Amino acid sequence: MLDSKVIIALDYSDEKEVWQFCERLDNNKCKLKVGKQLFTKYGPSLVEKLQSKGFKIFLDLKFHDIPTTVYKASIEAYKLGIWMLNVHALGGAEMMRAALQARDEINSESKLIGVTVLTSHSDESLSRIGIGKRDNLAKILANQVSDVGLDGVVCSPSDIESIGIREESFLFVTPGIRLSLDSDDHNNAFTPKQACSLGADYIVIGRPITESDDPMCILDKVVSSTY
Ligand code: C5P
Repeated sequence: MLDSKVIIALDYSDEKEVWQFCERLDNNKCKLKVGKQLFTKYGPSLVEKLQSKGFKIFLDLKFHDIPTTVYKASIEAYKLGIWMLNVHALGGAEMMRAALQARDEINSESKLIGVTVLTSHSDESLSRIGIGKRDNLAKILANQVSDVGLDGVVCSPSDIESIGIREESFLFVTPGIRLSLDSDDHNNAFTPKQACSLGADYIVIGRPITESDDPMCILDKVVSSTY
């Protein structure tokens, strides 16, 4: 079976909803992303329970702090046996190296990726905080992520070309995916097929699946459009 490119963002507010959803899911068809909301509410035990049902977990906590704090938090994250972890590239090279050092010490096989520019940012919102254009920033940050030796980046599908990193092993994980092009709070949305043809290795998709009347049918459609 091919490795699924689909990562479902489990952005539910209640554990019951998680289990209702997951009991119908085939763990070969997708990975699951546990983010700040569920992790803050239910903590590591939720991650462990999901893993015991065979799901690979992307722990999306987007660490961004001083290197020592990120090192210590990363140690705890890797101990959970997760499949993927992320940090904000804006935290700098030293902070990213601290997360890598933690991975080496735990001997974890988790992927470690850097968040470049949130897909909710536009050029205008970046300029309001004194930062230049998103294309340029995404490129600078992604190259730093690659130089430090992380496995890849989280970015918009539209950033992949301008980032310009061509190594096969460097992963592009892209949120902001929609089945039709209504974008919710993403500045720029892409269909699964578009994202993959722009070079996404994994797509992160939440509400179009989790809020659908027939999530399994939508998931099948998404999975088939990524091959
Ligand atoms: O529901 P939707 O498909 O918009 O899901 C978006 C998910 O992707 C959220 O969990 C959000 O935290 C995540 N995200 C991300 N990195 C970004 C933008 C969104 O991980 N740059």
